Amino acid sequence: MDLTRFTLTNYNNLPNKGSVTWSSPSNIALVKYWGKKEHQIPENPSISFTLDACKTITELNFEKKSKTDDSFSFKVFLDEVAKPDFHPKIETFFKRIETYIPFLKDFHFTIKTRNTFPHSSGIASSASGMSALALCLMSLEKQLNPNISGTDFIQKASFLARLGSGSACRSLEGDLVVWGNHQQIEGSSDLFGVKYPYQVHDVFKNYHDTILLVDKGEKQVSSTVGHNLMHGHPFAKQRFMQAVHNISKIKDILKSGDLDGFIALVESEALTLHAMMMASNPYFILMKPNTLKIINKIWSFRQQTGLPISFTLDAGANVHVLYPEKDAEQIYKFIKTQLVEYCQNGHYICDRIGFGAKQL
Ligand code: PMV
Repeated sequence: MDLTRFTLTNYNNLPNKGSVTWSSPSNIALVKYWGKKEHQIPENPSISFTLDACKTITELNFEKKSKTDDSFSFKVFLDEVAKPDFHPKIETFFKRIETYIPFLKDFHFTIKTRNTFPHSSGIASSASGMSALALCLMSLEKQLNPNISGTDFIQKASFLARLGSGSACRSLEGDLVVWGNHQQIEGSSDLFGVKYPYQVHDVFKNYHDTILLVDKGEKQVSSTVGHNLMHGHPFAKQRFMQAVHNISKIKDILKSGDLDGFIALVESEALTLHAMMMASNPYFILMKPNTLKIINKIWSFRQQTGLPISFTLDAGANVHVLYPEKDAEQIYKFIKTQLVEYCQNGHYICDRIGFGAKQL
């Protein structure tokens, strides 16, 4: 794999100091990424809706060191509070991307970050957080390489974000992003996410995602551990093939506006993800009793009304309720009156499909 195009060379005139700020959203996968090879290369392609309301805003302040040494120098603040516990994750990220961003050790960084969703909501901030930080670093790189094209800027930012947290590479653009090489998706790559390049039916525009916060606690099993358990998993090979097949299927669904097809595919993907967890060795369950209660309520409501409500899950107990704009009023009423009671402290987040990161 030729990675030289992602390596900055021949630069000089490092700025003495400065500041850049990016806001970057979370995303929710429709076809899931679960299982990876070395260097954050996914075992199968995935596709996600970019979200709008759930995002991270990161300000990166940089100051040139008076004398370059051999260490990364940075401080991290979440909501103005110093977060030394975030340091190991950022140190690992910097180590992984140092080859591509060779000036990292020339600066002292102050990283000030905040999320629009509560920190302990059970919503992972790694996708929005890592993509926002990667974009800030790219804005600094742009000062050294002003002629970088818009496409190269976004692709490299996505490439870097992937090395922070796999799914983060799908957060930069919207409203649908594919990550992972797939024969039928032109331009798709294992190295970065690409904006879904084909026609999408109007019914999928402005799609809603109401996130029901079933369990706000820390997950018992991290994504990193979960991905690793796909090595030697008895059903891994079949699962990776299924995901490839589902990407082909969703292409037709997105074009034709086939909501029944969409519901069947997306719910099967969510349950298969959790089935993989349950069939791992050691096995684990991230769903909670209320996750199942919500799923069953969604199924009976759909059967009774014929409305195109569906759900998906990420690697946790929370439920993402997906529905088109045209039926939003009726479905939202159902969520408020029948589903919110299963949320921890009645908490939920109204989100919808969004269009990616923005420099502020
Ligand atoms: O990006 P990670 O390593 O946190 O993994 C994310 C995995 C899922 O959210 C379960 C699926 C996905 O494609 O986002």
